[in-house]
Amino acid sequence: MDKSLIRKEVLPFVLMFGSLIAATLISDALLHQLDLVWIGRWLGIPGTLLILTSFLYSLRKRKKITFGKPKTLLRLHETLTWLGALMILVHAGIHVYAILPWLALAAMLINVFSGMTGKILLDRSKRFLAAKRETYLSDGLSEEQVEKRLFWDATTYDLMKKWRSVHLPITLAFVVLGLGHIISILLFWQWQ
Ligand code: HEM
Repeated sequence: MDKSLIRKEVLPFVLMFGSLIAATLISDALLHQLDLVWIGRWLGIPGTLLILTSFLYSLRKRKKITFGKPKTLLRLHETLTWLGALMILVHAGIHVYAILPWLALAAMLINVFSGMTGKILLDRSKRFLAAKRETYLSDGLSEEQVEKRLFWDATTYDLMKKWRSVHLPITLAFVVLGLGHIISILLFWQWQ
């Protein structure tokens, strides 16, 4: 594999996902050490709130709200989902044995994995488009070669559309399973 591909795509991905797993293990170990495992039971709530807040980006993109720079809100989306996922992973670490919470957790992890893949693909598209036609021409490529290159650029953009058609259903599955888990907790809550 080419070195710049490892530096620009593989490494950032491994760092983002690896740091999430490492932070989960460290937080879980700390809570056990400090006898604060009960905190994990409650972490599901702030975690969910952070992930919900991260959807400000989607609202901005779809013009439901007008405040905030899209670029900043996208960074916020990436950061808040990372933090929210960390809290939910620690929350899940308190070993609940029902199936629904585990399904919701698996959907969240797939969602995070897919989100990170999207970030890498988006960065790749940006890099491709920044070096557009002019650069190709100034590099001395023929018109035909430039067309061929631009075709590949478009494919990269198209890749984002394809990615979204995978990411959105995964989000839907996560929302449904997460809601199912939350509703079942509320139903079985000991109100006393
Ligand atoms: C709980 C986990 C996550 C959920 C539920 C989630 C949900 C979503 C949704 C629904 C969209 C589509 C926005 C729209 O088109 O309106 C989106 C876009 C995106 N997400 Fe996530 N996401 C999650 C985690 C992540 C993570 C961890 C990252 C990266 C670190 C990330 C990066 C992105 C990127 C780059 C986009 C594309 C922006 C665009 O094309 O407009 N997501 N996410």
